[in-house]
This record gives sequence, C-alpha cells and structure tokens, in this order.
Amino acid sequence: MRDNEQPDDSPYEDEAMEAGRKLFSRPCTFVMGAVQISTMPGTELPEICFAGRSNVGKSSLINAVTGHKGLARTSVTPGRTQELNFFRIEDRLSICDLPGYGYARAPKDRVKKWTSLVKSYLRGRPNLRRVLLLIDSRHGIKDNDREIMAMLDEAAVNYQVVLTKIDKPKAAELDALVEAMTAELKAHVAAHPVLMLTSSEKNRGIAELRAELVQLAATSS
Ligand code: GTP
Ligand code: MG
Repeated sequence: MRDNEQPDDSPYEDEAMEAGRKLFSRPCTFVMGAVQISTMPGTELPEICFAGRSNVGKSSLINAVTGHKGLARTSVTPGRTQELNFFRIEDRLSICDLPGYGYARAPKDRVKKWTSLVKSYLRGRPNLRRVLLLIDSRHGIKDNDREIMAMLDEAAVNYQVVLTKIDKPKAAELDALVEAMTAELKAHVAAHPVLMLTSSEKNRGIAELRAELVQLAATSS
C-alpha cells in the first residue's frame, strides 16, 4: 500500500472522507496556551484533545491532521509541550494539544502540576467531545495510560485510542499489538471501540482520522 492510499477495507464512506478533507482544509489557528483552568478559552465550540505520554507524537499528529507543519511545536526532547495549547478551525472545532505525561526526567513538582492540570481539564471540560488517547505503536499501553483510561471511564469521558508511529514496528508486531489492544479496550466503558492507526511521518491513517473527527465538529452555519 502506498503512503497516501486508503486501505480497501476502510470503514469510512467516501462522503465522510470528503467531509473530513474539507473540514481540515480550512484554516486552523492557534488560540492560546493555558497553564490553568481559569484562563482556558470559552466552551462554545465542540472540542477534541490529543492526550498521551510524553513524546508519543501528539503535536506531530495535530500538525498532520490540520495540514499545518509548524502549528503545534514538536520536539525530539520529551516534555516539549508544557501548556494546554488551543487551536481552532474557524467556527467548527476546537483542538487542544496537551502536555504529555510520564516524562521521568522532568522535575517532580512540575510533573505534579502538569498532571493535576491535565486531569482537571479531562474531567471537567464541558465541550470536550472526545479525547484522542495516543499510544506509541512501538510500546503499547503502559500503566500511566491505564491510569488515565480508568479516570476517563470513571468520569464517563469518551475517548478513542490512536496508535502513532506505525511506520516503526514490523507488520506482524503491529498486528499483534492491535489484537491485544482491541481486546483490552473492551473492558473500558468509555473507550470508543475503533482503534485508529496513524503515522504523521508517512501520512498514514490521517485522512481516516479526519473522517472520524468531522463527525464531532459543529455543522457549518
Ligand atoms: P510532548 O509534547 O513532549 O509530550 O511530545 P508529543 O507527544 O507532542 O510528541 P511530538 O509530536 O513532539 O513528537 C515526538 C517525536 O516523535 C519527534 O521526534 C517526532 O518527529 C517523532 N514522531 C512523531 N510522529 C511520528 C511518526 O509518525 N513516525 C515517526 N517515526 N516519528 C514520529
Ligand atoms: Mg507536544
């Protein structure tokens, strides 16, 4: 399969793919970075957020899905994103890039502050339609991911697992991981049953992710 080609068994109708393409071809702009709940933007637009361990590829995936290379800052150094960064696609969708969790080398007090900010955001944001929980396809689900999943289950916050960097593992390893994860997700009440497979670097699964996300956006006025 070539990088931009859709798999034959894509679950998305042409119409959904086209709607996704159209939504994400609109301009996406940076709104603000927030370090506390009280300074976050208003809640009038439907919102999605990109959550996951440090370095999993959250900012890269936002850039890939919005088609703006330098929109969210990415880095080879874990812990790059330290605020909640908000973006928006006109009057349709708000997008939040979260600081990653599980970065062992960050100072303890900073980790505590980020973790509590991320958790209060995830639990209390009224316009949050879905959390995209990113998992590195080389590593699978780790205990700190499970902690976030349990919290989202308990708070009844809808989330969907998105595998990142699928250009890295071998096909057989990826298949095994997908099988194990699909089984594990069945036990999680707030988890969306469909797993998304993506590579920001190779542009794989990006059009499908757009098709999935357009369903959560506001219809144009
Ligand atoms: P924090 O903000 O630190 O939590 O990290 P993040 O989750 O936003 O990750 P970021 O997007 O900054 O990417 C981290 C590293 O992974 C960078 O070196 C990226 O180039 C790399 N990366 C991201 N996506 C992919 C991918 O699809 N494939 C490969 N091979 N590398 C990727
Ligand atoms: Mg980041």
